[in-house]
Amino acid sequence: EGGLATLDVLVIGMLSLVAFELVLRALRGYVASYTGARLDAAVGREVLERLLRLPYRSFERMPAARLLERLRQLDQLRSFLTGNLPLFLVDLAFVGLFLGALFLLNGTLGLVTLAALPLFALLSWLGHRRQARHLLLHRRRVVDKNTTVWEAVANALTVKALGIEPEIERRFRAPLYETAWSGLRAGTTAQLTASLAQALQHLTAVLLVYFGARMVIAGELSIGGLVAASILAARALAPARQLFFAWPQLQQMREAWGRVDALLREGGEAEPRLERNVEGLRLQGHLRLEGVTFRYGEDRPPAIDDVTLDIEAGRLFALAGPPGSGKSTLARLLAGLVTPEKGRVLVDGHDLAQLPPSFYRRQIGVVPQELQLFSGTIAENIALGSEHCPHARVVAAARFVGLHEFVQRLPEGYETRLGERGAGLSAGQKQLVCIARALVRNPRILLLDEATSALDQETERLLVHNLKRAASGRTVILITHRPQLLAMCDRVAVLGEGRLVGVGSPATMIELLERRRAAQLHAAG
Ligand SMILES: Nc1ncnc2c1ncn2[C@@H]1O[C@H](COP(=O)(O)OP(=O)(O)O)[C@@H](O)[C@H]1O
Ligand SMILES: [Mg+2]
Repeated sequence: EGGLATLDVLVIGMLSLVAFELVLRALRGYVASYTGARLDAAVGREVLERLLRLPYRSFERMPAARLLERLRQLDQLRSFLTGNLPLFLVDLAFVGLFLGALFLLNGTLGLVTLAALPLFALLSWLGHRRQARHLLLHRRRVVDKNTTVWEAVANALTVKALGIEPEIERRFRAPLYETAWSGLRAGTTAQLTASLAQALQHLTAVLLVYFGARMVIAGELSIGGLVAASILAARALAPARQLFFAWPQLQQMREAWGRVDALLREGGEAEPRLERNVEGLRLQGHLRLEGVTFRYGEDRPPAIDDVTLDIEAGRLFALAGPPGSGKSTLARLLAGLVTPEKGRVLVDGHDLAQLPPSFYRRQIGVVPQELQLFSGTIAENIALGSEHCPHARVVAAARFVGLHEFVQRLPEGYETRLGERGAGLSAGQKQLVCIARALVRNPRILLLDEATSALDQETERLLVHNLKRAASGRTVILITHRPQLLAMCDRVAVLGEGRLVGVGSPATMIELLERRRAAQLHAAG
């Protein structure tokens, strides 16, 4: 009698639960897509914002493929958080409820069921440990694979011209094999532990029936009670099992998040707190290095070694020296893209470390040695970084650098679309676009790092001549090898192995360079 009543109550309870679950699942679908989309937008934006605020060196150290792989893992985290986790949490609450009901019904059967939980935990932990090694290898090889593809596409010209497709394929094959293999191992381990867990659940059910049936025979439990106990145990065990196996997944996601977070927290460029407002400050463009030392790694020799140098405002200043002597590094220091290990970089007497980077960079135009263009029109590329730049200014800048004639002859003129990284222009034209971009913001300080190297001598000479003419009130720093350009500058500094070997008039410095080159040739035999 009592047993049947228990069963009735239970079945009614279960039916309402099934209905409840149905609603819950429907809701989950909606919640998952909605919050997923919201989260995507928010997290995506936050990640990009923080990413872009990292100092330049962080980018150099971070392979793009690894970053993308971490972001992909974050995506997984997102879908887990919005997809399965909420349901798991609801289930977990019910696990407690069902177990409690089971204990009320019969203590022994409750204990049998409860005993399965630590076994699930152990199994999940063991499985996770076995899997972790494979997963780590898997992720690393995915990154290698993507890097290979990435580089091959970016350097397609070299790949095709040198016919090194087989080499690229070879580089791709090893990680390809290893990703497949480690993925397989991780997958089989996961499947094995899942099957074991399922078996454990069934075993518990069998034990429950065994003990229950003995109690029924002994008259300690009604048949209805036994059936009710089985139902309760099944409802408690299934979600508990799932939860334990979701745990490692969550753990992995947490690791991924931790790594992305560590990267993003590496410290963005600090906007220093200022003693006074600099927004009104108009720079003259006097640059000074005081005992500046910089190295790219603690175990590297200094790329710039105790350099003290004055660059007067409003002058055309040149920086020369053999490859690897530290010219580009010095340019980065002057642009505030890297910070000195020792010494200070001063602009008009203000330490760069004390000036907000955003403020300083608005007043400086930099053309790096590696040309960097973006997909978009020519006009967009020139105006990039100068807000509300009128078209006339774009044209003026193009005219100034000698690009206008060429652009005009294009059917779509300034609206000609460039491909990825400025594809569709010659190297020299790309350089001109980059210089025009630096000029259009009317910078106090203009820094050209071998930015005219792809131009013919006459175009180059004309450009520098124009720069000199327009230099009034503008500091122009020119990094170049060409004596002809050095001769046009007001002052020349020569670097050698990171040290300043001379500053002076163009004539004396050109002589110094020649002497050093001759000595080098002599030493090389
Ligand atoms: N991103 C970098 N990471 C590590 N070392 C670098 C990096 N850039 C330059 N270096 C090293 O710093 C030294 C100076 O390089 P750089 O300033 O580019 O010379 P230059 O422009 O005069 O040719 C070189 O020995 C070079 O190997
Ligand atoms: Mg260089």
